[in-house]
Amino acid sequence: MSHAALRAVEEGGAARAPRHFLDIRDHDSATLRAMIDHAARMKRGADTAKPLAGKTVALIFEKPSTRTRVSFEVGIRQLGGDVVMLAGSATQLDRGETVADTARVLSRYVDAVMYRTDNPAKLHEMAANATIPVINGLTAESHPCQLMADVMTFEEHKGPIAGQVIAWVGDGNNVARSWIESAARFGFTLRLATPPELGPPAETVAWARALGAKIELTADPEVAVAGAACVVTDTWVSMSDDPHANRHNLLMPYQVTEQLMGLAAPDAIFMHCLPAHRGEEMTAAVIDGPQSVVFDEAENRLHAQKGVLAWLLADQ
Ligand code: CP
Ligand code: NVA
Repeated sequence: MSHAALRAVEEGGAARAPRHFLDIRDHDSATLRAMIDHAARMKRGADTAKPLAGKTVALIFEKPSTRTRVSFEVGIRQLGGDVVMLAGSATQLDRGETVADTARVLSRYVDAVMYRTDNPAKLHEMAANATIPVINGLTAESHPCQLMADVMTFEEHKGPIAGQVIAWVGDGNNVARSWIESAARFGFTLRLATPPELGPPAETVAWARALGAKIELTADPEVAVAGAACVVTDTWVSMSDDPHANRHNLLMPYQVTEQLMGLAAPDAIFMHCLPAHRGEEMTAAVIDGPQSVVFDEAENRLHAQKGVLAWLLADQ
């Protein structure tokens, strides 16, 4: 039984429903802002509390990872917690045990679960059946932890993100969807240039626009990038995609080159969640050039996720 559930039983009450971190859209602007502000305080050493002392987090990976795996493990330890690492293929999930039963079992051992899986329905089944917080470590549809780090990184370099113009160039994928949700929550303009065949999900665009978000869709990368404070791209072939050659044909006009960066604001930054493929979604000159902040972005996964973990677990 999780600490929260045990405490509730001892106190004679019902366990509170756990907090989860499944998507940017699930949280209001003030809550997200508080997590990022806390992350920034921890990053500069102004808060060294250990809110995860005595707590254990399970990390389940059904897909490969470098940044998410290492930044969660290190961040949890820095917050005083312990980690259990699980490759999905090494668990009974791979032999047909349900996600729901896995969630119920893990809830008896650990205090939170981070889950990376292709299928968002599996993530939601985990959250619906766990009595502990569940964190989305990437699905085929979204990558909210990445966006917490990305907003933090943008603001470190460019100041408040509200009112700024960000250009997404390339595939309208899982990370793009989380950027759209973030535009609604953080109040920036997001221009997305994608091939029409690989546009972002219409439902997410409609959701964000209904909240007043400025989401501009175009097939022309030059239109998206013009005057932007930040140009963002991502791999052309995500882990959930079939790597067929046509994706490359469709996406080649969307390669971020020095020439394209030259159309953005003169002091624009370049972002990419990594892993990157030089010569595909961007040239080496762009990702390795002076406008690139991709390694600050990777570092901020650590800090931003500590903000998320502290919010999920501090009072639970
Ligand atoms: N950006 C990101 O999530 O990287 P990993 O796949 O290495 O975790
Ligand atoms: N869109 C990429 C992001 C990797 C972190 C993928 O899903 O593979």
